[in-house]
Amino acid sequence: MTARTVTYPSRPAVDRSALPPGPPELPIIGQTLRYLRDPIGFMQEAATYGDLVTMSVKPALLYLVNHPDLVRDIVVTHHRRVGRGPNTEVLKWVMGNSLVTASGADHLQQRRLIQPQFHRSRIDGYGAMMQQYAAQHRNAWADGQRVDMAREMGALTLRIVVKTLFGLDLPHDVRRIGAAFELSNNYLVARVNQPPRLRNFLHRFPFPYSLRFKRARARLDRIIYNLIAERRQSANRADDLLSLLLAARFEDDDGGERPLTDRQVRDQTITLFAAGHETTAVSLTWTWYLLSVHPEIQTRFHQELDDVIGGRPPTLADLPNLALTDRILTESLRLYPSIWFWSRMAFQPFSLGGYDIPSGALLAAPQLIVQRDPRWFDQPLEFRPDRWTPEFRQSLPPYAYYPFGGGPRRCIGDGFAWMEAKLILATLGQRWRMRHDPRHQIKMLPLISLRPQGGMPMYLERRR
Ligand code: HEM
Repeated sequence: MTARTVTYPSRPAVDRSALPPGPPELPIIGQTLRYLRDPIGFMQEAATYGDLVTMSVKPALLYLVNHPDLVRDIVVTHHRRVGRGPNTEVLKWVMGNSLVTASGADHLQQRRLIQPQFHRSRIDGYGAMMQQYAAQHRNAWADGQRVDMAREMGALTLRIVVKTLFGLDLPHDVRRIGAAFELSNNYLVARVNQPPRLRNFLHRFPFPYSLRFKRARARLDRIIYNLIAERRQSANRADDLLSLLLAARFEDDDGGERPLTDRQVRDQTITLFAAGHETTAVSLTWTWYLLSVHPEIQTRFHQELDDVIGGRPPTLADLPNLALTDRILTESLRLYPSIWFWSRMAFQPFSLGGYDIPSGALLAAPQLIVQRDPRWFDQPLEFRPDRWTPEFRQSLPPYAYYPFGGGPRRCIGDGFAWMEAKLILATLGQRWRMRHDPRHQIKMLPLISLRPQGGMPMYLERRR
């Protein structure tokens, strides 16, 4: 698990006539401006050119992958030939060398270490806390109140992730970790799509924004290193992820077993924090939105909660019986996948969909496009939880639906996220009916996660 410097293959020289088709491009800048201005609209248009499409987004050679079989070929068949692309260098500014940023053998070694911490038997232990925090959140709302549901879900999942990772639940601790992280995250979002030379220049020099970022990152580091030092000294074994990581051993390159260094524990915890918090909050926000604009489905959802749980607190044992809630979440993650898009860089050449993919090319497989394809989903833009019958699931090609990715890099927190989201939906839905503020115009904001632009204003109605 030694941090390795990655050398990214440079943009390959290719014969344009040997590339898959793609939208028309302007001289020199290609389709870069169009992509930067409206990535979703641009990818939707590009997808009309075929299952594998060339997108001329400078300085990369970028392919859009728009067919489940090709998605599978990348994440499963050719997973050893692809890795994270150069934009990962930006994530490393916060995450260091961790499960999300590592590639190849380094990634596999880290995956083996972290995977057991997400085993069902471990994560089930967090269920009661998640439900309890959701209930406290539910009890703090007032009838007729207008809330920004994006903020509300962000605050709730932040509290849960801080408790799960670090065992902290004092509002002051949660706030200071959340604030430092939000600043760092916004900085990464702003930098990630900038051309590498420009962003490295802006990052290295003491401009006010980069200084603010570095101060926020230093605050996060101080908090985490202090927690690590306290835990190392204390005889008490907490059951949070920090303690599990401190107790874990990994197999070193020379075959010996070693504990993680402080730096490695810091990188992994910050990464789990980053990967697990906003994704779940955003998914819940979109789910409440979809329920609120489909009142008949919201009524059936409430009916299911009343039938299965009644007025008592939901538990893990209830979750398998909440079949409609499950379909609602599944359909919401289809229409609004919180990780809307991922990409890989080819580190070795391979063949995909009848084309030669050269080393150095980037491949983007946006869930948001594939999961809205009418070839796999009838009336794809409609919110129809009932489409998810067992027969439909069986008939769906693998990788027509992949909100949690796939292959060896599939989301490690999928079980955690699913449990958390269902417990929150059930606990809040027992008391509240949501109504979207119709003055707010829905627009997707495709950053690293798919946020709703301008938050998600909603009115709360207490259920009688
Ligand atoms: C609804 C919630 C979530 C969604 C939609 C989601 C989605 C994803 C996706 C699509 C990937 C794969 C990205 C790629 O292939 O490049 C991923 C990876 C990952 N997710 Fe999640 N995630 C969610 C929640 C969580 C949670 C709760 C955690 C941890 C507490 C987590 C931790 C991770 C990590 C560490 C990875 C990297 C795995 C690897 O590369 O081996 N995620 N997630």
